[in-house]
Amino acid sequence: MNAQRPAAVIILAAGEGTRMKSDTPKVLHRIGGDPLLGHALRAAHGAEAENVAVVVRHERDRVIEFINQADPTAIIADQDEIKGTGRAVECGLLALDPQLQGTVLVTMGDVPLLSGETLTALTEAHVTAGAAVTVITATLDDPKSYGRIVRGADGSVERIVEFKDATDAEREIKEFNSGIYAFDAEVLRTALPKIGTDNAQGEKYLTDVLQLAREAGGKVEAFLCDDIWQTEGVNDRVQLARLGKVLNQRTCERWMREGVTIVDPDTTWIDVHATIERDALILPGTQVIGASTIGTHAVIGPDTTLIDTEVGAHAEVKRTEANLAVIGADAKVGPFSYLRPGTELGVGGKIGGFVETKNAKIHDGAKVPHLAYCGDAVVGEGSNVGAGTIFANYDGTNKHQTVLGKHSFVGSNSVLVAPVTLADGAYVAAGSAITKNVGPGELAVTRAQQRNIAGWVERTRPDSAAAAAAAAARTTDAQTSTEGEQEQA
Ligand code: UD1
Ligand code: MG
Repeated sequence: MNAQRPAAVIILAAGEGTRMKSDTPKVLHRIGGDPLLGHALRAAHGAEAENVAVVVRHERDRVIEFINQADPTAIIADQDEIKGTGRAVECGLLALDPQLQGTVLVTMGDVPLLSGETLTALTEAHVTAGAAVTVITATLDDPKSYGRIVRGADGSVERIVEFKDATDAEREIKEFNSGIYAFDAEVLRTALPKIGTDNAQGEKYLTDVLQLAREAGGKVEAFLCDDIWQTEGVNDRVQLARLGKVLNQRTCERWMREGVTIVDPDTTWIDVHATIERDALILPGTQVIGASTIGTHAVIGPDTTLIDTEVGAHAEVKRTEANLAVIGADAKVGPFSYLRPGTELGVGGKIGGFVETKNAKIHDGAKVPHLAYCGDAVVGEGSNVGAGTIFANYDGTNKHQTVLGKHSFVGSNSVLVAPVTLADGAYVAAGSAITKNVGPGELAVTRAQQRNIAGWVERTRPDSAAAAAAAAARTTDAQTSTEGEQEQA
């Protein structure tokens, strides 16, 4: 266990996020498949914090609903009507053990690229220096409205000044406050009640703790982060997209380093919860969404979307959308297939072009190769479902199941009206409408007997091109058969 483990991480997530102009609270907007707050929770746990507390206020019920589902161990802290990051941390501390000792990290619910590794490095630097406060800083040519780091003549950090409160000279400072800190718990507890709201925004500023800690004889340190993206927060949807893109680049690079070939990372989107085994090949235009998993040597894409879908080793999935589906090892799917929830394709099975499946268990080696709808179905091992087959699963009121036994065969353009069962080794003739069960080895045929009506075209369309073609063909046929007879003679 890490002896320097932080006693707590307090994640600030009470702000409104007005610039998102959204009905959804800012921290619930998603990148990489996870809400911004989900990324902050993962970083906090990455730092092995003993307690993780989230400060909420705006849309608290919706935010809490997400927290409870993503991380039931997280402590919820409610912020009251007093505004400011200082008040937010005070409320966070109130939800924790009043005797809490050690290091308390403060992070933000809207800074999604911050990593657990960075928080661990921050904690180590803070503890090693014996600091009262350590703030993560970074430098930019124009740090815009960020708080500026004011250093003394000896180079040590004196205080942070908010942009709105800064003098022109202070606004020239390039080093800014990321808003992420390590505090000694005792220092924080002592300083926060002393902070007032006498500033440009009338808020309790957390940044005021630095000066108070220094005045009390504590050491204030800066931890410079050279990976600027880790300090970047989301304020509007432009930043949301930009950080989403950077996160995706990082995710793609991580998988490439693990041995996955990604032909075009710019058009490949992989969610943070997806997993891909080595030697998988991801072709352009592919999205790997949710908790999807891709097996070794599988080939995915181009232009494929997998949502919470499992793909086995050596499978091929081309130009397909699959949602909550399982695709077995060595199976082939696509192009232009639509696999809806509950689709399970067995080892070496096939779901081909323009096929839609839903709640369909297609066993090992079974094939639905062309132009079919296969819903509420079991297709036995080694069976073949012909082109254009429709599993009519819905009677207008209820859904019913169709079961095909092993090594059964359905001829093209058939309709299987559920509920209906084909036994092992049963056959259905092309163009049949099946409403009754078919026994083992039986052939079911439901279409009418074929009748050929002689001379119909010449009678009903006497001057047509078809009539002329038929007449010519009849002459040729007669000649050929005469020649044939002559040869034989
Ligand atoms: C804060 C810092 C600033 C720093 C910047 C980095 C202060 C006074 N200023 O500025 O120095 O450069 O972050 O992004 O701390 N929040 C609450 N409750 C509140 C107010 C905010 O939970 O009452 C949360 C917000 O949801 C957000 C975070 O705290 O996640 C930061 O709030 P924000 O208003 O963006 O801080 P700034 O004023 O921009
Ligand atoms: Mg603000």
